Amino acid sequence: KKLAPALVCMETTHNTAGGAVLPLTHMAGVQRIARTNGAKVHLDGARIFNAAVALGVSADKLAAYADSVCFCVSKALSAPVGSLLCGSTEFVDRARHFRRMLGGAMRQSGIVAAAGIVALETMVERLGEDHANARLLAEGFQQIDPSLVDAAGIETNIVRVDIGASARSAQQWVSDLAAEGVATSDYGRSQLRFVTHRHIGRAEVEQAVAAVRRVWERAAPPRVRAAG
Ligand SMILES: Cc1ncc(COP(=O)(O)O)c(C=O)c1O
Repeated sequence: KKLAPALVCMETTHNTAGGAVLPLTHMAGVQRIARTNGAKVHLDGARIFNAAVALGVSADKLAAYADSVCFCVSKALSAPVGSLLCGSTEFVDRARHFRRMLGGAMRQSGIVAAAGIVALETMVERLGEDHANARLLAEGFQQIDPSLVDAAGIETNIVRVDIGASARSAQQWVSDLAAEGVATSDYGRSQLRFVTHRHIGRAEVEQAVAAVRRVWERAAPPRVRAAG
């Protein structure tokens, strides 16, 4: 029997693509190809609400392109913990079975779910602020040096910064910025990853830009200056 793919997965927003949003036409195309070939579609929507807000549509529009969807109520929605798996009743029943087999069941989940409900009810509408702050952050970095980031490419709340032109590794940048009170993470040897969220406002954006400027000035490559 010919082997055929059983499942196609999409991810939006896409974490390692720097919070990029899948266009709806792309999602529709993937769904069509999967259906034609008898495969199911799963949407890794850990950040689905960021994608929905960026596109100006409700999350169910994105979910409609998949048979099953997973999303987090942590991350930008600010709950301390929690992810939800959604799909048909039959699918969810099967998933519950596998969760128990894998040791993932939890009896005391109500208290955790309560925070998730608050997240869903009160945190979705403010995500646009995170996106605007991420854009501001990127614009500030771009002004320090254009090699750091292209601010026009920031779609949601993730800003990846390329510090490859500096004399420091990403790991050194992370500790230098931590000393300045700015939490970031390294992404490979030459990239940093900044994420904006409910606790990051304009003041924190300015603080982060100032900190990156100070580290950049210490770590910038020596420039060849024209004499005179
Ligand atoms: C794109 C993506 N999918 C899935 C997950 C995992 O979510 P969870 O650990 O809540 O299952 C994460 C991050 O944690 C993520 O960034």
